[in-house]
Amino acid sequence: VRGNNTTWKVVIAGLGWIAEMVHLPYLCSSLVVDLLGGYDVDETRTQQMVKRFGLRPFTAWDRLLEAGADVAVIATPPSTHGELVVSALNHHMHVICEKPLATSAKEARAIATASKGAKRHVFCCMTNRYRSDVQRMASAVREARIGEPRFMRASWLRARGVPMSLGALEKGVLWDLGIHLIDLAVWMTGWRNPISVTANQTRIAPSETIETANWYRRGAYVNPKSFGADTATIEVSFKNGAIASVEVSWAAHIPDDRTEILLLGTDAALRLSTVFGWSSSRDLVKGPPLAISSCQEDDWIPLVSKQNRDHLEYKAQLDSFFNSLGGRPNATDQMDELVEVIKIMEAGELNMRRLGD
Ligand SMILES: NC(=O)c1ccc[n+]([C@@H]2O[C@H](COP(=O)([O-])OP(=O)(O)OC[C@H]3O[C@@H](n4cnc5c(N)ncnc54)[C@H](O)[C@@H]3O)[C@@H](O)[C@H]2O)c1
Repeated sequence: VRGNNTTWKVVIAGLGWIAEMVHLPYLCSSLVVDLLGGYDVDETRTQQMVKRFGLRPFTAWDRLLEAGADVAVIATPPSTHGELVVSALNHHMHVICEKPLATSAKEARAIATASKGAKRHVFCCMTNRYRSDVQRMASAVREARIGEPRFMRASWLRARGVPMSLGALEKGVLWDLGIHLIDLAVWMTGWRNPISVTANQTRIAPSETIETANWYRRGAYVNPKSFGADTATIEVSFKNGAIASVEVSWAAHIPDDRTEILLLGTDAALRLSTVFGWSSSRDLVKGPPLAISSCQEDDWIPLVSKQNRDHLEYKAQLDSFFNSLGGRPNATDQMDELVEVIKIMEAGELNMRRLGD
């Protein structure tokens, strides 16, 4: 526990797209952060970020661990998160980890145990929880405006927007976009104990005509032939009978990106209609993002009237983490939900019919 004028010594591992767009700009400008340095396995990439942000480079992961930092930011590809997070915790650091927290429930539980043992926070960047329209939706659920939530249908379709970073491609579209929607289902409704998970994936875009997302600005380019599916679905039923049904695509032939969440409760329904993520479609989306219908009125009633065009949620999530650090570390804060989400994603992956099988 520290006073108000504290600065936190921070290190970062993984200096790819999300580090360049979100973490490094934040860490370099925050008044509560003293950025000690960064590490990436790719030396060329490290040098680019040294040039751009005046970052001090670490030549090895061990050097980063021994730098005496309070907080480690992990922004590497998903398969590395489990090991890097546990090792940062074992070096007494709090951790900000990009999503997904881990790629298996076993890894996620190991993180929870290490966090408890080390008495250090682990924060996972489930960024969309920090959108103002999503927060309004969550508070409407908490206030029982729809009664008991029973069914969620959520879809995030990108208009020909394949991200060419390994961080996104490594685990595929379901882990890239789908996890955000599954996370919102678990976080907003309190649904727990999944009893069945079904997932499927397919490929829409032919390799020859694949188009990189217009917001993806990075030199490295992954061969589009190297990934399989660009579109996926996952359906979860929970012990209490509730159902979450999610569909995601990187490559839809639609005019603009679109995210829709419909949440049906025992008394009323909520509808979020907007654009998540980095997307130029945010400038185009029209109408109130969030509305409620209770059948007592003829139409949907707006709960939020203005579309969220900026990318404030990326900053808000990190503000939220650094604000909470001043308090008493409570390792289990977000942990049960995160483990539940990874459990669902892993079950979906195991169930999934892979392309070519
Ligand atoms: N919260 C969000 O909305 C959001 C958005 C985009 C990406 N992400 C997540 O961020 C993570 C990174 O994605 P990205 O798009 O920046 O990927 P990226 O491929 O652009 O960057 C990852 C970087 O990590 C480096 N790296 C790989 N293994 C490493 C290791 N062991 N130690 C140090 N560096 C290592 C790579 O060289 C690369 O530069 C992913 O987990 C992704 O899911 C989250």
